[in-house]
Amino acid sequence: MITRPDTPTPWINYLGTEEYFGFVSNTAGGCSFFRDARLRRLTRYRYNNAPADVGGRYLYLRDDASGAFWSPTWQPTRRELDDYECRHGLSYTRIASSWGGVRAETLYFVPLGEDLEVWRLAVTNERDAPVSLSLFSSVEFCLWDAQDDATNFQRNLSVGQVEVEDGVVFHTSEYRERRDHFAYFACSEPLAGFDSQREAFLGPYRGWERPLAVEEGRSSGSIAHGWAPIGSHHVRLDLAPSASAEVVFLLGYAENPAEDKFDPPGSVTLNKRRVRPVIDHWLRTDVVDEAFDALRSHWGELLSVLEVATPDEDTNRMVNIWNPYQCLVTFNLSRSISLYESGIGRGLGFRDSNQDLLGFVHLRPARARERLLDLAATQLATGGAYHQYQPLTKRGNDGIGSGFNDDPLWLILAAAAYLKETGDAPVLDEPVPYDNLPGTETTFYEHLRRALGYTLGRLGPHGLPLIGRADWNDCLNLNCLSDTPGESFQTAENRAGGVAESVFIAGQFVLAAAELAGIARLRGLVKEAESYEGAAQQMTAVIDRHGWDGEWFLRAYDHAGGVVGSHRNDEGQIFIEPQGICILAGVGVNDGRAARALASVRARLATEHGIMLQQPAYSRYYRELGEISSYPPGYKENAGIFCHANPWIMIAETIVGDGDAAFDYYRRINPSAREAISGVHRCEPYVYAQMIAGRDAPAHGEAKNSWLTGTAAWNLVALTQWILGIRPELGGLRIDPVLPSHWPGFTARRRWRGATYEIAVTQAAGASGRVRRLVVDGTDVEGNLVRPAPPGTTVRIEASIG
Ligand code: BGC
Ligand code: NOJ
Repeated sequence: MITRPDTPTPWINYLGTEEYFGFVSNTAGGCSFFRDARLRRLTRYRYNNAPADVGGRYLYLRDDASGAFWSPTWQPTRRELDDYECRHGLSYTRIASSWGGVRAETLYFVPLGEDLEVWRLAVTNERDAPVSLSLFSSVEFCLWDAQDDATNFQRNLSVGQVEVEDGVVFHTSEYRERRDHFAYFACSEPLAGFDSQREAFLGPYRGWERPLAVEEGRSSGSIAHGWAPIGSHHVRLDLAPSASAEVVFLLGYAENPAEDKFDPPGSVTLNKRRVRPVIDHWLRTDVVDEAFDALRSHWGELLSVLEVATPDEDTNRMVNIWNPYQCLVTFNLSRSISLYESGIGRGLGFRDSNQDLLGFVHLRPARARERLLDLAATQLATGGAYHQYQPLTKRGNDGIGSGFNDDPLWLILAAAAYLKETGDAPVLDEPVPYDNLPGTETTFYEHLRRALGYTLGRLGPHGLPLIGRADWNDCLNLNCLSDTPGESFQTAENRAGGVAESVFIAGQFVLAAAELAGIARLRGLVKEAESYEGAAQQMTAVIDRHGWDGEWFLRAYDHAGGVVGSHRNDEGQIFIEPQGICILAGVGVNDGRAARALASVRARLATEHGIMLQQPAYSRYYRELGEISSYPPGYKENAGIFCHANPWIMIAETIVGDGDAAFDYYRRINPSAREAISGVHRCEPYVYAQMIAGRDAPAHGEAKNSWLTGTAAWNLVALTQWILGIRPELGGLRIDPVLPSHWPGFTARRRWRGATYEIAVTQAAGASGRVRRLVVDGTDVEGNLVRPAPPGTTVRIEASIG
């Protein structure tokens, strides 16, 4: 619940869970799209605007007696409200306010299974006297391709088209030619008027804060020809004291089959016959109410897959609600659109989507399965991967291409997570093509094999994996060597024969090889499993020899063979990533190096706001390192607190058995715990941000890039699977909590492969360490692995520590 409209930054939420999506700020800003934020953008949003957050789902109320008008969501008029409250919920947002004795409450959501969004407005007259109000709605249509819409004005200012029929504004730009889709904006009440041309509604040289139509209390019935098509309705409401009115607005997307595009056939008039019943149906308040209830039950069901009760409220709030919610959003939208991602830059990232799946797979395994196969289908025959693909076409992005050498290994880690969650071994036999080319299909399992082989086929002078364009750290561009201003570090030509190597990929390989060995055993391929285990051992030996710096793991070797992330460097001596991933892979755990590396992290990288990516920050541009040194010190990959990598350290701390350290790091970046310092943190206190400014930045502790980050998935994994220790494995549910020593324990309920596990963990005062006794349905068991129970049954697990 947000109680003031002028939050430090706009605090947003997302609408939609399937194909129709939008984001919505706490003052109704945002935009909507169908499937693809770039290619099917329905409404416009103005990035870089001042004031911030312009373009939205805006309503205006006007007191027709005085002519005073305001926005019940504060923006865009920003007229001071008597009271204001925004509730961001699970796929819905409700904004309520009062002004001059008129209360308005708007609920925004996307009904399940529909390609439309509902705005349900309730207006109540709280005055002692009757009131006559004018209500205006407004959306500004985007001409579909958001990139083109923002740049190609010579064409676009002439192609805008609408049709208006029975009070519905249909946005039909380009429908006359090759498009078969259109948008519509409808209202449940009889209209006093409408507008569909932006300049007619706003008036010349005016903005959204003071539209002429609203000021004058009348729409002009404008029909957009070119320029900027909008939708706006004008409704008159006469309310007796205490009376309320309800109005439903619908913003929707629809397609017509090619043979039925026009009505009458042969004309260029939109065929509205198919969509009309949809509109009529959804304009009914009883239908809307029912759909909202269905959405709530849907979320109740999803969140009941894993529920925990720990002694820490901020943990419970994140794990039970907001963290899985953010995981669903990142799973659906990858890094496409937020306040920091314009929706035109990238589609679905290969590495990103595989990691997002880790935090999502337990919520909707069937969708995770589909995603895995889609990702594998963009893989190349070499086992390599396109770095990104477009969700609308499901094809790899040629623009950015391939060669980020960590990418393929993430597919193995994601597939392993899916198999551990579901036990669905038949997925391994699914036929999947390469680069989406029909005829190239092999089993999904073969895709995983090739992914592992990709690394082995690309080893450098020390026997470590070649880094290619970059590994997980997109900004460590060791083969780029760019001197050209503005050249993209992501796509600049790789130095031919680039020999830079990554210790990160080496650790990731050890982890992935172990996972693939487990999967091979599942298929009865014992010899093959052993060969992967052997490969993992060999790589571990290479890390031991060439990847250890003395007190921590090295980061990389650059193009010239120089070390990166070593005490021998002047700057960038220690990096977070190899400490996390190598320890996750088990490297150095038995010989004390893991503990030493973690002590180094604590001494050199940890701050009260989280763990920085590396230290000391780069103070100048290093051509041999690339983008990382392009950022001012303390920001982003240059010694920012890159939250995504923090949970790796939390997990590593649990692996060496330090629950206090793990949980301490968890708290430092927990958004809910940071709500108390919102003045410093500034971003939404309910979702993770990609980055919090590091110690070298002037605004140390300030978050940026909230919402679309791998931080969401990894923190959920770190807290639930490693700190609470409820960890699905191929052969059972591992119960291996490593708790902070001051916790007396916790309880949890986990649905897994159809059965329900009621888990109670107790920890003796002052004790810490691992589970000493495990009782399953009243019987003591050896070890801490609970075998899968028959679907439909409930299993009671009691574990004691100390
Ligand atoms: C950012 C990275 C991001 C990359 C790819 C860089 O500028 O710093 O965090 O992954 O761009 O878009
Ligand atoms: C953000 C990207 O989405 C992710 O793939 C990458 O690992 C991090 N930046 C670190 O550079």
